[in-house]
Amino acid sequence: MKKIRRIGIITAGGDSPGLNAAIRGVGKAALSEPGMEVIAFRDGFRGLAENLRLRMDKRALAGILTVGGTIIGTSRDKPHRMEINGEMRDMTDAIVRNYKQNKLDALVCIGGGGTHKNALRLIERGLNIVTLPKTIDNDVALTDSTIGFDTALDIATDAIDRLHSTAHSHHRIIIAEIMGHRAGWLSLGAGIAGGADVILIPEIPYDIKKVAAAIRRRSQQGTNFSIVAVAEGAMTVEDAAEFAAAERRKKSAPSSEAKKRAKTELAALEARHAGSTWRLAKQLEEHTHLEARVTILGYVQRGGTPSSGDRLLATRLGTKCVELIRENVFGVMVAARGEGTKPVPIAEVAGKLKTVPPDHQWIESARRVGTCFGN
Ligand code: F6P
Repeated sequence: MKKIRRIGIITAGGDSPGLNAAIRGVGKAALSEPGMEVIAFRDGFRGLAENLRLRMDKRALAGILTVGGTIIGTSRDKPHRMEINGEMRDMTDAIVRNYKQNKLDALVCIGGGGTHKNALRLIERGLNIVTLPKTIDNDVALTDSTIGFDTALDIATDAIDRLHSTAHSHHRIIIAEIMGHRAGWLSLGAGIAGGADVILIPEIPYDIKKVAAAIRRRSQQGTNFSIVAVAEGAMTVEDAAEFAAAERRKKSAPSSEAKKRAKTELAALEARHAGSTWRLAKQLEEHTHLEARVTILGYVQRGGTPSSGDRLLATRLGTKCVELIRENVFGVMVAARGEGTKPVPIAEVAGKLKTVPPDHQWIESARRVGTCFGN
């Protein structure tokens, strides 16, 4: 077994609460191993391509457990398509070269779906990589949870709690748009915890008329306000059908021309989808004769100090990561499983999305307390 002396670490993709707790978990565990040291590279894969290094010594790791964001920076840069001086270049060779020149024995990548795809490419080039699942979306496959989800759940739930005040004071429909990209975990969890009357998620395309009918029923029963938790990726039945057809055309495109046309069509659908929450508000006003107002929670959901749950998760995964590296176990993601962890091959994670199964227990629970999902 090769003695591990030097571990590289990056944070990549969207920032999230708990990233610094994970950096601390990896760093402190590594520094407790005789002769082991940690080098961080700034701003995700770009730091590896441009050799932007930061030594992770005891001083650098002190006091960061409770700090939001990532002290080493992040980016959505991809190794194989990185903008350098205004042009897109494949920086994979540069990354492999820097990995070797820095005499790294292993590299820790903390990130979400995109990071796992990029990590797999570098594994195929011979790098020893271990990943930690991170995203407020909770959409990384084969792990119970991801670093950042628990904190974002608290933030979105607190926002829904607060939105109840203006809803019942003004007898309004208040729509909270919640992050999650193409998964509904955050909206579903916060919608249940915050007592939303309607929860709309990408996994269950909705019928606006059914949403309006549920809100009208509440009014008829004497409750003339409603809270709607809508995932940023939620769609009407019609829009979801259009997206699916365009995705199919892109996948089965017989030529590069046809693929380009399908990509343009998808981009137009994405652009139109950007305004869907405002259209939802207008349509609900028309169908219910109640006022409707929209709050986009946005990046607040990724901000501030991590919850105790995320600090615990990040420390568990980060320390386990160093144990695996010391045992020369590479090419795996440290998945959260119950109170423990499990190393899962990155090849089985990359390119997969963990979405909410329509028969998930959380959906069942929400329906049993009368929540409408628009279907
Ligand atoms: O992946 C986390 C996330 O916050 C998503 O919920 C959201 O759609 C996306 O990042 C926003 O991306 P960016 O930070 O690049 O604007």
